Amino acid sequence: MANSPSGESVSERILRVLESFDTDRTALTATEIGRLARLPSSTAHRLVSELVATGLLERLADGRVQLGMHLWEIAQRGSRALRLRQVVLPYMERVQTRVREHTQLGVLENGEVLFLERLSDPHAVSNITRIAGRLPLHASSSGLVLLAFSPDEMQGDALEGRLDPFTPDTVTDPDRLRELLAQIRRDEFVVAPGYVEPVSTGIAVPLRDGAGRVLAALSVVVPRAAPTAGALEELRAAAAGIARRLPRGS
Ligand code: PHB
Repeated sequence: MANSPSGESVSERILRVLESFDTDRTALTATEIGRLARLPSSTAHRLVSELVATGLLERLADGRVQLGMHLWEIAQRGSRALRLRQVVLPYMERVQTRVREHTQLGVLENGEVLFLERLSDPHAVSNITRIAGRLPLHASSSGLVLLAFSPDEMQGDALEGRLDPFTPDTVTDPDRLRELLAQIRRDEFVVAPGYVEPVSTGIAVPLRDGAGRVLAALSVVVPRAAPTAGALEELRAAAAGIARRLPRGS
């Protein structure tokens, strides 16, 4: 792939263009993309036009662009995320029908939890997770579960890295976090009251494949004052069912 004068490959620049979009910033002008992707304006305009021509970006009536449906199609096709979601979704729906708040499926991705699916009730408590959105590992219930079962080196990096609080209840002390991770490994669940938002509690369990490897976390977000035992029981039943359906090395 040809490199630019700065030594960057075209693929790296295209990735930066695509990464300018996020769950809140869904439509952008080429000039905004240039600024966000740190590209010269002429390069940004050219790359945007080329990406529109291939269908990876779509042009809106007002001239701004958004991520193309074709990009979604390619990304989904045969992906690990889609296979996991297909197995987990019926179990998530069962949890959701019974708990009637929010149910999320999250995986570990580059030091954060990435949410592949979220089901909600119109009357459910506030929830900041978004499908294709991320949260830090140390703060969220799903992230804590994924961190607890991650390799020692990753846990060390996370405990030595930035542990910013979301609320006064977020655990940010490395020693307390280490204890919490050990407790999660013993219990196979976490209850995280007010760690992300003061009004809610996250509850999460690991999802294992047939070989016992942790592939994802399944969580619910319930109001802070709500009891947690029933939701935890639903999550554990779902995790047991999913383990029987997820072949080794899924
Ligand atoms: C959690 O996973 O602990 C969590 C996530 C989003 C919220 C609240 C809690 O809004």
